[in-house]
Amino acid sequence: MGKIRVYKLAKELALSSKELIEILQDLDVDVSSHMSTIEDDTAKTVRDMFVEKENGSEKKSEIVKEEKDTDNEKQGETGNRDSQEKETTERHDISLPITVKELAESIDYPANDMIKKLMGLGLMANLNHPLDEDTLIMLADEIGVRINIKDTDHVSDEQEKEKRVGPKIVDKAADLQLRPPIITVMGHVDHGKTTLLDVIRQSRVAESEAGGITQHIGAYQVFINGKKITFIDTPGHEAFTAMRARGAQVTDITILVVAADDGVMPQTIEAINHAKAADIPIIIAINKIDKPNAQPDRVKQELTEHGLVPEDWGGDTICVPISALKEENINELLEMVLLVAEMEEIKANPNRYAEGIVIESELDKGRGPVATLLVKNGTMRIGDALLAGPVSGRVRAMIDDKGERINEAPPATPVEILGFSDVPAAGEFVEVLPDEKEARAVAEERKQALHQQDIQNESRISLEDLYEQI
Ligand code: GTP
Ligand code: MG
Repeated sequence: MGKIRVYKLAKELALSSKELIEILQDLDVDVSSHMSTIEDDTAKTVRDMFVEKENGSEKKSEIVKEEKDTDNEKQGETGNRDSQEKETTERHDISLPITVKELAESIDYPANDMIKKLMGLGLMANLNHPLDEDTLIMLADEIGVRINIKDTDHVSDEQEKEKRVGPKIVDKAADLQLRPPIITVMGHVDHGKTTLLDVIRQSRVAESEAGGITQHIGAYQVFINGKKITFIDTPGHEAFTAMRARGAQVTDITILVVAADDGVMPQTIEAINHAKAADIPIIIAINKIDKPNAQPDRVKQELTEHGLVPEDWGGDTICVPISALKEENINELLEMVLLVAEMEEIKANPNRYAEGIVIESELDKGRGPVATLLVKNGTMRIGDALLAGPVSGRVRAMIDDKGERINEAPPATPVEILGFSDVPAAGEFVEVLPDEKEARAVAEERKQALHQQDIQNESRISLEDLYEQI
């Protein structure tokens, strides 16, 4: 009899793990976190609850909604009554492709709140970001609206032309290909993240860091057993929450490093929360087991208190005791990473305009604005027109993690880009547009909008100041 992890089934059913855990607990299934496993039989029972209705037009999100509607207590939590009544009666026809802005307008929902909801679903999107069918279903569920998605094939060329700027392709399942998994290494300061990555990469970054503290995100690609993997190193110092949040946004799997002589600490907990919120699988590396004062069992106990029960304690959380310094058990850890990555079947469409996220950026004296991007979908090429928030540009040069110039960056590649007109903000969503003029025009529009907002904010502040003084 097979098993499936909660977060995987949740993804399949377009639910959050939290929602699925509630449903499972109602069915008296013992689950504690998104990493818990459930029997295939139980998964089937839940799947059957979500089978599409016979006329084929009703979507999963509506079924979830109906369940919620029967629960009076939850209704109280979802907001005011007017909107609830609207939710239960009104259904919105949505034609694909559709952008965040268009969806916000058509269902009359604030675009900013929608972007926040999307972030909660692990997607960094801007107003012009196109939404695919799966995301739409999850988003509708999050917002609590009913939608009817119209068949993509019936969208005419004219309609398509009128549509938004941004990638014109909505990925079809047939276009998707396996891409390297993106693994983020997280954990409390000094617990050994960079040392672990140094061992994996056979490099010596940790030794050269000022004060032994990582102050930026490092992104690298490594071949393990012939398979390419992208690793992201994050800083553990408490000051770098935003960087860790960015790392969590782009990742497929988290390796959480916990030092056996120090145990679960504040940034360990922060990382657990990031991974839980984004439904990302966690693999625990209990590090520094070579130290005489190492207490791996204490770490396991503390993890249990945070809902992560180790496999050898009857739970579902993969824990590998390692010593990054003495290079012990590193292969065992990597095997686990490959195993989880394989189960995830992480895919992207390399034959489309690239999309990615700025993980770091700076103004270099000699080279101008430099941004390190992680390409999440599509392939980035020299000459591509770029749009990142209010900044546009054209890819002049691309440099990979080994310092080599490259002409193409397929999905999951970390790449340094030269050619932005200004420094794009770290965390910004980046997209390639078909035309540089268009990119420039959209960037200009956004800049104006931001400027306008600044003026409004400033005048509001001065009015408030004035009232305070009266
Ligand atoms: P930040 O990036 O600043 O959060 O730190 P980090 O988690 O990357 O830790 P780093 O790899 O820089 O290691 C911190 C210290 O712990 C260094 O002195 C390492 O040599 C040491 N260290 C790392 N792994 C081990 C280990 O397995 N055993 C022992 N004894 N020391 C280790
Ligand atoms: Mg480090």
